[in-house]
Amino acid sequence: MFDTAFLDLPALHAVRGTVRLPGSKSISNRVLLLAALCQGRTVVHDLLDADDTQVMLQALRQLGCGVAVEGTRAVIDGIGGRADRPRRADLFLGNAGTAMRPLAAALAVLGGDYTLRGVPRMHERPIGDLVDALQVLGCDVHYEGASGYPPLRIGEPKLRLDQPIAVRGDVSSQFLTALLLALPLAAGEQDIAIDVTGELVSKPYIDITLQLLGRFGVRVRCDGWRRFTIARGAAYQSPGEIHVEGDASSASYFIAAGALSADAGGLKIEGVGADSIQGDVRFVEAARLMGAHIDSGPNWLRARRGAWPLKAIDLDCNHIPDAAMTLAVMALYADGPCTLRNIASWRVKETDRIAALATELRKLGAQVDEGADFLRVTPPADTTAWRAASIHTYDDHRMAMCGALAAFNPAGLPVRIENPRCVGKTFPDYFETLFSLAMSAAAVPVICIDGPTASGKGTLAAAVARRLGYHYLDSGALYRLTGLAARARGLEPNATHETMLAKLARQLPTRFGEQGEVWLNGHDVTIAIRTEAAGADASRLSTLPTVRQALLDLQRQAARLPGLVTDGRDMGTVIFPAAQLKVYLTASADQRAERRHKQLLSKGISANIDSLRADLEERDMRDSTRTAAPLQAAPDALPLDNSTLSIDETVEQVLTWWQDRQPF
Ligand code: DC
Repeated sequence: MFDTAFLDLPALHAVRGTVRLPGSKSISNRVLLLAALCQGRTVVHDLLDADDTQVMLQALRQLGCGVAVEGTRAVIDGIGGRADRPRRADLFLGNAGTAMRPLAAALAVLGGDYTLRGVPRMHERPIGDLVDALQVLGCDVHYEGASGYPPLRIGEPKLRLDQPIAVRGDVSSQFLTALLLALPLAAGEQDIAIDVTGELVSKPYIDITLQLLGRFGVRVRCDGWRRFTIARGAAYQSPGEIHVEGDASSASYFIAAGALSADAGGLKIEGVGADSIQGDVRFVEAARLMGAHIDSGPNWLRARRGAWPLKAIDLDCNHIPDAAMTLAVMALYADGPCTLRNIASWRVKETDRIAALATELRKLGAQVDEGADFLRVTPPADTTAWRAASIHTYDDHRMAMCGALAAFNPAGLPVRIENPRCVGKTFPDYFETLFSLAMSAAAVPVICIDGPTASGKGTLAAAVARRLGYHYLDSGALYRLTGLAARARGLEPNATHETMLAKLARQLPTRFGEQGEVWLNGHDVTIAIRTEAAGADASRLSTLPTVRQALLDLQRQAARLPGLVTDGRDMGTVIFPAAQLKVYLTASADQRAERRHKQLLSKGISANIDSLRADLEERDMRDSTRTAAPLQAAPDALPLDNSTLSIDETVEQVLTWWQDRQPF
């Protein structure tokens, strides 16, 4: 997951390959709750591993369930029929509506002493219609704060189930889902009927609920979407094992990417297919209306560009409330204004999504009209009307995920996504996944940092990479690895073996880990490459022109989306001459000697500062006068003397230079 303040996406040209979707949020949280309400054990496969399921799992632990999670597999031991379950808990449910509503209903029916709260935005999302319905049926539910909104306090119920229970269906289908999941707990001697008042929104989500209730042994009769009846004697029964489908709303971003891709190959999407139980899969029909070319089969979809530009649509989106946000961004690429109707529920989601999309799409150059329950997007008139925008994401995962699709703009402009970590709610690896499939419209952004030994260039480059969410290449490590590989073969790293050494360098069996680990031939050599001996071998190897040439491709391959920060000798001159920013970092010999001295002391190695300084000066001389890739600032490098700067100040200076070159 990108944990940066913002993430800059270079303009994207195409996507190609296969994406495996994370589990559906709606199904995951329903299945977890149902498993918790059963007696005995349920094994859940392909569970979504994201913020919204984490809060649900944590709540279930507090309620006394056995919870064991390993990646996407969860083993849940339910509290059904257990008299010894904890009857008190203070539950924090983040911003997960799919946890708040059903848990509120289930706990209100079960009874106990519970508080349910969330993040501030959760306390702005209405829940009054559900609480009204629960109170009418005899539950003890009260507001801890503002009336109509969480946090809630729940006590012991005195259930009255003889009358049909009325619930409003026109604000959020989650209220009805919550009652449907909770009331089988109370089905004893009589049938329980729920009557929906107002037009039921998001019917497909009710379908998911009914299907899953069926998997857990409870059949519900549905009469014309107005009355739902749970038969007397209904009781939850674990299916033993259950698989969660991929998230159909998450699929929408990749279907759109396929439709926007200039590459005819398109994208295969695994985890949802034509037979999905999720209503959002009908996004496929909407995307087809816009001209996308989509094939499907059991558990897969394939999307590629059809009509181009896309065709404008005027569509009632009530049946695909979440995925329709993706249509709003696809509208930027349409041949006329697109109108999305019947989307009032957007106003009470993670943010007011109508207002948010209107604001952000305008920044990109679209003209947008918004109403209480519709959005009309007129795309930028031509390429020159597109703007490079910094997309504010309102802590809403879908704003970040659909906003990224603006990177396919024909103007070749980058897009900045603010607070990219908000995708963690449902799809923590969203951007990594997109980058693994996408081809950039132009060269991937590269920042090169060079400078003499002990100037701090490695520390600087790694820190800048972290702040931007870019990859980091320590090119010196490649020379060090080649040296280790040579030693392992019994080769002296010198000119006598130059051809063999170059061959080794060209096929280095190396791998870099997320935490800076380095492997060679499957062995962890993170520490081994840092020794003085490895440095000396690297220094000798780095004077051999054919070895340098052999490492060229490996270094260029490191320039992957979303960007690269690299440090080392000829990075800005030979490897990436077109890098957008080159920095030549220096510090006085005194300063550098002092820093190296401290560094050695911190490793428990004693050293003499005067001899360190003499070594440094000698190495400067040798490095700058050698014939192969001498130490020289690239002519277009910006000099940065950090003798009197802290690391943070140095990083800020480089980030300021980088920002000055961005169009945002
Ligand atoms: O930065 P370092 O100490 O890990 O580098 C090891 C050796 O490799 C050092 O002598 C400089 C040389 N080197 C090089 O010639 N070109 C690079 N791009 C990186 C390092």
